[in-house]
Order: sequence, then C-alpha cells, then structure tokens
Amino acid sequence: MTIAAKDIQKALLPEKAVLSFRKKKIELDVYQGTQKELAIDITKLRAKTGMITLDPGYGNTGSAMSDITFVNGEKGILKFRGYRVEELAEHSRFVEVAYLILFGKLPNRDEYQKFSHLLEEHTALHSSLEHHFNGFPDNAPPMAILSAMLNATACYHPELLDTELDAQNFLTASTKILSKVRTIAAMSYRRSNGFPIIYPNHQLKYCANFLHMMFSQPYREYEVDPVVERALNIFFLVHADHEQNCSASTVRMVSSSRANLFSSVAAGVCALWGPLHGGANTEVIKMLQSIYKEKKSADAIITMAKDKKSKFRLMGFGHRVYKNFDPRARILKKQVDEVYKILKISDPLLDIAKSLEEKALQDEYFIERKLYPNVDFYSGLLLRAIGIPLNMFTVMFAIGRCPGWMAHWKELLDHNQRIVRPRQIYMGVVERKFIPIEERE
Ligand code: ACO
Repeated sequence: MTIAAKDIQKALLPEKAVLSFRKKKIELDVYQGTQKELAIDITKLRAKTGMITLDPGYGNTGSAMSDITFVNGEKGILKFRGYRVEELAEHSRFVEVAYLILFGKLPNRDEYQKFSHLLEEHTALHSSLEHHFNGFPDNAPPMAILSAMLNATACYHPELLDTELDAQNFLTASTKILSKVRTIAAMSYRRSNGFPIIYPNHQLKYCANFLHMMFSQPYREYEVDPVVERALNIFFLVHADHEQNCSASTVRMVSSSRANLFSSVAAGVCALWGPLHGGANTEVIKMLQSIYKEKKSADAIITMAKDKKSKFRLMGFGHRVYKNFDPRARILKKQVDEVYKILKISDPLLDIAKSLEEKALQDEYFIERKLYPNVDFYSGLLLRAIGIPLNMFTVMFAIGRCPGWMAHWKELLDHNQRIVRPRQIYMGVVERKFIPIEERE
C-alpha cells in the first residue's frame, strides 16, 4: 500500500499557519490526517527563512505520512491499518496481523494459507549460518545474536538485497525474516542452556513451532498447551507495530539510505535493545525481583522513582505518546490474569506489580506527568508464566515487532522518501588556530 498523491493533496488544508520572526512573516502549509491530526509543513522553512526547528527527541516532529498504525495517546487508542488492537487481540492471531501490517489488508483464506506456508518453508537457516552462530559465546545476549545473524542471513540471499523488491520478492524476503527470527531466537536459548538445537517442525503453526524449537528435547516432544500458544500469539500481536517509535524510526532512517531489508531490520533490533525501549520488559522483572528479594515496599520504590537525584525510574511506566493508558498494557494484564488462573500459577512478582501500579496511579507525581503502565509492565509477567526466561524477553519483543519494521521499510521506499538527515544547532568553539604539540599546555 502506498499513500496516493491525491490523498496527500486532500490532506492539504486551505488555511495556512503563519510564522513571524523579526518583522518577517511567512505562511506554512498545514496538513490534516484522516484522524484529524494537524501538522505544519516546515520542509521549506530553511529555504524561506534560514532557520531550522529544534526538537531533540523528535517529540513534535512528524517524520512521515504513514498509513500503517494510528496511535491516539490521549484517548489510549491503537489501530493497525484501521483495526483496533483490542479487536485484533480478541479475534485474530499474530500471523494474520503480520500480514495485515505488511500488506495493508486482512488476508483472505488463500492469502493466509500461502503466507503461513511460506513462514513454515523458510524456518530453517542455511546450514553455513551455523558457523556464524557457533562463533558466539554461550552467554551472548540474544539481541546481539539476532542482529548479527540477520545481517549474516542477508549474505545468503543476494537476490533480496535490492531496495526495489517487487511484490513477490518482498513477500519472500519478509517471510524469510519473520520466520527466521524465531529460529535464531530459539537457537540462542538452546545454546545458552547447553541444549541441542531443535529443528523446526513445519507442520506446526508459527507460535507452536517457536515453542517446539524452544522447549522440545530430542527424546521428548514439547506438548503445546493451547493456552500458552494463545498467550504467545497475543504477546506477539500487541507488539506488531507502534508507528514512529525509536526502533521503527531507526529502521526508517537506515532504509532511507537505501539499505536492504535485512540490515534495516537488524538496526531496528539494536535500537529496541535499550532499556528505555524494548529492553524495559527485562528491566521491569529485574525491578520486581529486587523488590521481592530485598523486601522493599511499593511506597519506597515510588519514592525512589520520584527522587530526581536518583537515576531510578519506575520501569514499565510512562510513554512518549500514551498520556492516558496504553491499550496494550490492558490487553496483556487481562491475559496475565487469565493465564495465571488457567495454569494455576501464583507469582509473588505479579502481586508486587499490581500493588506498584495501584500506588503509582494514585500518586500526584505520576498523575501530574500522566505516567501509566506501558506495554512492558505486564508483558514480562506473561512471558514468565509461559516459561520464557528473562534474557529472552527483548528478543521476544523483536520477533513481534518485525512486521512493523518491515512495513515501515517498504513504506519509506514506496514513498521514495529523501535520505533522513536532520540538522543541528552548533554550540561549539567558533574557530581555533592549530598549535603544534610542543607548544600545547
Ligand atoms: N518513572 C519516574 N519518572 C518518570 C518515568 C518513570 N518511569 N517516566 C517519565 N518520568 C518523568 C520524567 O522524569 C520527567 O519528569 P520531569 O518532567 O519532572 O523532568 C517526566 O516524567 C517526563 O518524562 P520524559 O523522560 O521526558 O518522557 P519521555 O517521553 O522522554 O520518555 C519513556 C518516555 C522513555 C518511556 C520514559 O517514560 C521512561 O523512561 N520510562 C521507563 C522505561 C520504560 O518503561 N520504557 C518502555 C517504553 S514503551 C516501549 O518502548 C515499548
């Protein structure tokens, strides 16, 4: 799907925004999206005025016109290609939503079968890639392995490194990536635990196959519990895209240089790794574990999170866009409650999380700053319940986010967007004369 020129034209409003500075006034175009969001077009600002805009962290910068995902942070709305995430989580599954995000429509039966078939066909890695894989230390972080292995995988598909992939090649490349990230993630878990690698079983569906590669043994097949499979589907599905977040913007920035799909997605993996982004799901559990171990009270943690002298933040809380609630956190919290009940699990960390949430939501500091649980607050508790170890949490997020990254790569290239190259305000020394080393103090 590409946004048509006529739709862009339709989005252009007849009114103009006026900017005045030092007796000079200029008019700027204003665009309105399909959900009535307004944006001032500053693409000609520097040419007209010599000025740039300053927005570190890009909190007010629209970097693209996109038709993949819509987020309304004030109302807590998230839609993929127009469908509410709550509705998709209830009625759909990850593979179907991946197709929706990649190709702009829910698949019909034939399209779904073809897509699922390709995902199963592409599961295995080229046998030579095992040499790359064996080069990693046993305890290598799965995110490092995933990003490196994605670039290594690219070497075996030179025909897919073009940025002008036709529909067939994009389907091939995207299903290869979506399928293999799961295999690579499972392999890193097996290796880190000293277990033999389990080959994929192409008769199993996406999530079941992943669980099989994670937990089967050569002498004992893992029996996939439908409750666990459903929970994993929902976990991946809610992570499938989130418009211009840090990792998607990274993918877009890399692809704007016309880098191939594999390396652009590998860059997304690296951006996701950080604790302020996808890495937060690991940090939440580490925080809950330390509260449990050190018998800290929820009040003490909240006080610490508010203390500007400490660098501590309440992990899994706050979001750049959501200023009311994060619908993904609600879906995952509900899923956590269901899974814990059905599987008869009790976890003291869940009780701690709930009491932290309750206290934080009543605290003036959090209310004032509109800080609510984000997607990462409950996602780790869900992963724990289905047996995924802590060091795999962020790589699980990465698997789920792949459809979004690939859709952004494609969209940017379809729109033939210019290379991303922000400007800056230079604040350094104006000019210095070179001093030979002998004369320097
Ligand atoms: N705990 C305590 N205070 C917080 C928290 C938090 N989790 N989050 C934000 N604040 C405070 C800030 O200190 C700041 O206070 P101030 O106005 O007094 O200076 C205010 O709230 C605004 O915070 P910013 O850092 O400006 O918000 P920003 O939009 O830049 O950051 C972020 C958003 C990174 C998510 C932040 O809320 C955070 O660090 N949260 C914890 C990490 C986390 O959960 N990340 C996962 C996000 S979801 C995702 O990426 C998938």
